[in-house]
Amino acid sequence: MLPKPHGGKLIERIASSKEAEEIISRGYKELEISYERAQEAVNIAKGLFSPLTGFMGKKELQSVLDTSRLSSGLPWTIPIVLDINEKERKELISEDGVILTNRGKKVAFLEINSIYTWDKEEFAEKVYRTKDEAHPGVARTYGLKEYFLSGDLLLLDGIEEPFPEYNLSPKETRVLFEAKGWSKVVGFQTRNVPHIGHEYVQKTALTFVDGLFINPVIGKKKKGDFRDDVIIKAYRALMENYYPKNRVVLSILPMEMRYAGPREAIHHAIIRKNFGCTHFIVGRDHAGVGNYYGPYEAQEIFQQFPDIGIEPVFFRSFFFCKKCNSVANEKTCPHGEEMHVNFSGTKIRKLLQEGQRPPEDLMRPEVAEAILSFENPFVE
Ligand code: ADX
Repeated sequence: MLPKPHGGKLIERIASSKEAEEIISRGYKELEISYERAQEAVNIAKGLFSPLTGFMGKKELQSVLDTSRLSSGLPWTIPIVLDINEKERKELISEDGVILTNRGKKVAFLEINSIYTWDKEEFAEKVYRTKDEAHPGVARTYGLKEYFLSGDLLLLDGIEEPFPEYNLSPKETRVLFEAKGWSKVVGFQTRNVPHIGHEYVQKTALTFVDGLFINPVIGKKKKGDFRDDVIIKAYRALMENYYPKNRVVLSILPMEMRYAGPREAIHHAIIRKNFGCTHFIVGRDHAGVGNYYGPYEAQEIFQQFPDIGIEPVFFRSFFFCKKCNSVANEKTCPHGEEMHVNFSGTKIRKLLQEGQRPPEDLMRPEVAEAILSFENPFVE
C-alpha cells in the first residue's frame, strides 16, 4: 500500500475558475515574487510540501529551526518562507490578502497572516550548520530580503511549468503508481546526470520493490552543476537503453537545491513520501556540497525521525572494482583501494568539459552521447 501523505492528507489548494474570478474581483494588491518562490507556492498548492498550506509563520519557522519539526511535532527540516523587503512590508502591512505575481501571471492568492523579522545567521547556522558564505545555501539565505510574509495560499494561474511532459503532481504519481499495481515504490533524488554508480544504486533498490521513481531536482542550481535539459535527456537515454519500461517512472521535482546535506535528505524524503513512495534512497553525501557534511551524516540523521513514514534505503558508496570486475562497495568487496575507481562527479565533469566520453566503467556511452550533444551542459 502506498503511504499516506505527510500529516495524513494530501494538500490541494487550487482555486476553481469561479473562485479565482471572485478573489481577483476583490481588488487585492499585487506582489511580484521570484520564479523560485512562485514555484514553491505551486508546490505547496499541489501538495508536494503536505501538510504545509502556505508560507511559514514565525512560530513554525522557529520550531523547524530548533527542533527539525513543525509545531505539531511532525518532522520538517527546511523552512518554506516568502521573503519581502521594507517597501513591500509597508505596502502590505494593513492588507489581509495579496495576489502573488510572476512574469505577468497571477500565481496565487495569499491570505496574509503575519509579516515578521528573522535572523539570517541563526537561519544559516541551524539549517546549514555553517555561516560560511562560500556554502551556496548560506549565500542563498543571506540573499533573502529582511522580512518574511506568512499565510495560507490558493493557486490561481500558477506559473509556466518546466518540462510539462515530466512534471507530475503527487496526486498524479499516486494514481500512476496504483494503476501500475505498485505497492512498494523507491524514490531517487538527484541533481546530476546518471553515472554507473547512480544506476547501480537505483537497480539494487529496485530488486526488492515494485517500482523506481526517478525524481531529479529541476531548478536553480549552483554554477558548474548540470543543466536541467541535460539531466532529462541523459536520463531518457539511460532509461531507453538500460531500464525495464514498466518498472520506472521519470518525473521532475521543480525546486531549488539547498545543499543542506542531512537536513535536506529529510526534506527530500518527505516530498517523495507525498509523491507516494514507500522507500527513499540515501547514498553517499546526499545533497552535500564541499566538505561541510560527513559522507554518511545524511543517513545518520534518519535515526532522529523514526516517525517519518517513509523507509530510507542506505547505500555505502559504490565504486568500480577492477579485481571484482564489477560495481561494488566496501560492504561487498574485499579488495584494496588500488583496485577501486570512484564515480567521481568531478572527474566525469572534467572529461565532459573537454568533450571526451567518460569510460564505460563510469558512464553509459548513450548517456555520455546525450550530454555531449549539448554545446555547454553546465549551469553558468
Ligand atoms: S544529490 O545532491 O542529489 O544528493 P546526486 O545526484 O549525485 O546528488 O546523488 C543522488 C543520490 O545518489 C544521493 O542519494 C547520493 O547519495 C547517491 N549517490 C551518488 N553517488 C553515489 C555512489 N557512488 N554510491 C552510492 N550512492 C551514491
